[in-house]
Amino acid sequence: MTERAYNSLLSSGRIAGLELSNRVFLAAMDMNLCVDGEISDGEIAHYTARAAGGTAMVITGTGAVAWPVGATSRHQPAFSDDRFIPGIGRLADSVHAAGGRLCMQLCHHGKTASVDTAEGRPQLVPSLLDGTPDLSALRDSPMDELRRLATATQGKKATYKVADEEDLVWVIDQFAAAARRVKFAGVDAIEIHAAHGYLLSTFLSRTYNKRDDRWGGSIENRARLTCEVVRAVKREVGADYPVLVRLNGHEYGPWDGLTAAESAEAAALIERAGADAIHVSANAHNPFADFTDGPLPSAVGAYREHTKTIKQAVSIPVVAVGRMLPELADEMIAAGECDFVSMGRQLLADPELVNKIRAGRRRSVRPCINCYVCVEQNFFDGNPKCAVNPALCNEEVALLTPFDRPRHVVVIGGGPGGMEAARVAATRGAKVTLIEKGGRLGGTLWFSQLTTPANEMLVDWLTHEVERLGVEVLLGTRADVDLVDSLRPDVVIVATGARRGRPDVPGADLPHVLTGDALRGVITGEADADLAALGPLQRVVVAAGRAVGALSDANRVRRLSKMWMPIGRRVVVVGGGLVGLELAEYLAERGRHVTVLEEGQHLGLPMAMPRRWTAVREAREHGVVLVREARLVSISCDSVRYHVGDEQFDVGADNVIVAGEVRADASLADELSARGLNVRLVGDAAEVGYIEGAIHGAMKVARDL
Ligand SMILES: Cc1cc2nc3c(=O)[nH]c(=O)nc-3n(C[C@H](O)[C@H](O)[C@H](O)COP(=O)(O)O)c2cc1C
Ligand code: SF4
Repeated sequence: MTERAYNSLLSSGRIAGLELSNRVFLAAMDMNLCVDGEISDGEIAHYTARAAGGTAMVITGTGAVAWPVGATSRHQPAFSDDRFIPGIGRLADSVHAAGGRLCMQLCHHGKTASVDTAEGRPQLVPSLLDGTPDLSALRDSPMDELRRLATATQGKKATYKVADEEDLVWVIDQFAAAARRVKFAGVDAIEIHAAHGYLLSTFLSRTYNKRDDRWGGSIENRARLTCEVVRAVKREVGADYPVLVRLNGHEYGPWDGLTAAESAEAAALIERAGADAIHVSANAHNPFADFTDGPLPSAVGAYREHTKTIKQAVSIPVVAVGRMLPELADEMIAAGECDFVSMGRQLLADPELVNKIRAGRRRSVRPCINCYVCVEQNFFDGNPKCAVNPALCNEEVALLTPFDRPRHVVVIGGGPGGMEAARVAATRGAKVTLIEKGGRLGGTLWFSQLTTPANEMLVDWLTHEVERLGVEVLLGTRADVDLVDSLRPDVVIVATGARRGRPDVPGADLPHVLTGDALRGVITGEADADLAALGPLQRVVVAAGRAVGALSDANRVRRLSKMWMPIGRRVVVVGGGLVGLELAEYLAERGRHVTVLEEGQHLGLPMAMPRRWTAVREAREHGVVLVREARLVSISCDSVRYHVGDEQFDVGADNVIVAGEVRADASLADELSARGLNVRLVGDAAEVGYIEGAIHGAMKVARDL
């Protein structure tokens, strides 16, 4: 296959007086690694890695112009005093030495200034809100999570101050003074944050700004504060110095928010005030409901239309964001829909994206799987971690040292843990043999891509890397002790996954009750699947699908299963965790009447919060009946009995799917150890930890060999 050249994406560009080597920026993302506002070594290592990876310009996570006043965290960059300049200078020097440009994001956090609340100050707002957001999603947050959500505010309740003229003059001055310090420190550009519900964006928003003075009402008035900030900053830094403004192209949610048309009007005013580029993001009013619409969209290219609308209204460069994959980004730039793109999570997952696509190695880019694990930590005032990149916030993990002598590593299990272990060991120079009992690589990850299509990119990436690194893959091979011993390995890594059992209730062995493994078999037609649960016609169809290879491609399975699936009309899913919930939605989308019985109080665990909230809402919108604190009592051939408290219920079921009952399974590792082999355990075989647990565990084990 010929590699795409990405000519538009990789072409050089310019904003004001700043030359940029290509069109990719790192989108601002809080790392929360600062120590009381001071840039730390961790922060420098993070941004430098992205610059070294070929990113034209890195934009730092939001910093507070008047820190700690108007700050969201004590761990974000501070710009409020000259004492912060040397740290910022060290960051600029390091990014420059790596070949990149540095832009710092300047903000006053307004109604989300948690540090104000923690320190007993009111938060600055344009006007007081009537009504409160719907917080019902927090019902699925365990107590520990609720406690951690209150970290930044120290559990205190926010109070508000409606900004008066004096406050606004002070805000404008603070932005200008911060800009002066940032420029003085050697930073190449500034981004003024007028999006995401922070102070400037609340003035721009019809929902939050109910004022009837010169700062409220018409879009000219609502944009006045941002325009005044831009003017003051430009006066301070000069005409040639690039000042970007981040705007919401749209405000999602039930309230009457900013539209793209209005945002385009604001963008034109902001251009006239002196801005040099507009960065089109988006926001949702209620982060506990619509966070996966904005500011972290689930859909690839989610803000494309808003960006186009704004691009037509201005003549300065426009930056697009929102799950920008290189192909889409290249296409949008080529079509003149935007001039630059910023990538957030994708560059957390792989800082070397630009270098890799420049070298014609697109398939080696480690994909972001849109799992929201990173940003969940920000809700807790913590440092992001990445499910697929264990080196995030710990960059030295990415440096793999070669083995000092030849090693033969045998990996058993071709799921994410096994493939990652094989990849790391092979990168370090080991001869690696990977044994997989199924007919393809991916394991449970392959199956998960049916319900979570973004996981497909991870299967592809791991498969490609394993192949590229010359790992010997033995498919359709059962790894027993004799076989493994005969390979004379130095180390055996066991990544055979978890055991999926049945609940201990009457009827759990009935043929229409499917465990996770059996379900996987009947949907994907895996060669060793037990088809006993199927009726005669269903068995014939699945066997035929297998024979013609129709079930070997996840997209095709997703498509075909919309027409037919060997699963009855009424389905009870036992277990409302990550797997149960995603499965329920998949089945409901395919016309099944689904009831989810969750024993605990919370649904969707251990999905990261924003994704969990959306998954619960979407399952409900698809008609799935969600029952919390449901104790399974028995299963008959056409119904399921359960208790909630003292009440008993029966629900009709043509199939019952057991999505829980997952247990770590080290039995093969024990047998191999008993034979005297040097064994390590990774992934769900060691401890059930899903993708993040498997990848992080495998990296650690293979690094430590
Ligand atoms: C961990 C994390 C922290 C973020 N912090 C910021 C921030 O400080 N300022 C900001 O404007 N956007 C922030 N964002 C939003 C990103 O800049 C970006 O707009 C968003 O992630 C969508 O882009 P993506 O789909 O490429 O990730 C953050 C995103 C993530 C994942
Ligand atoms: S944690 Fe998940 S969403 Fe965040 S960057 Fe990593 S893969 Fe992407």
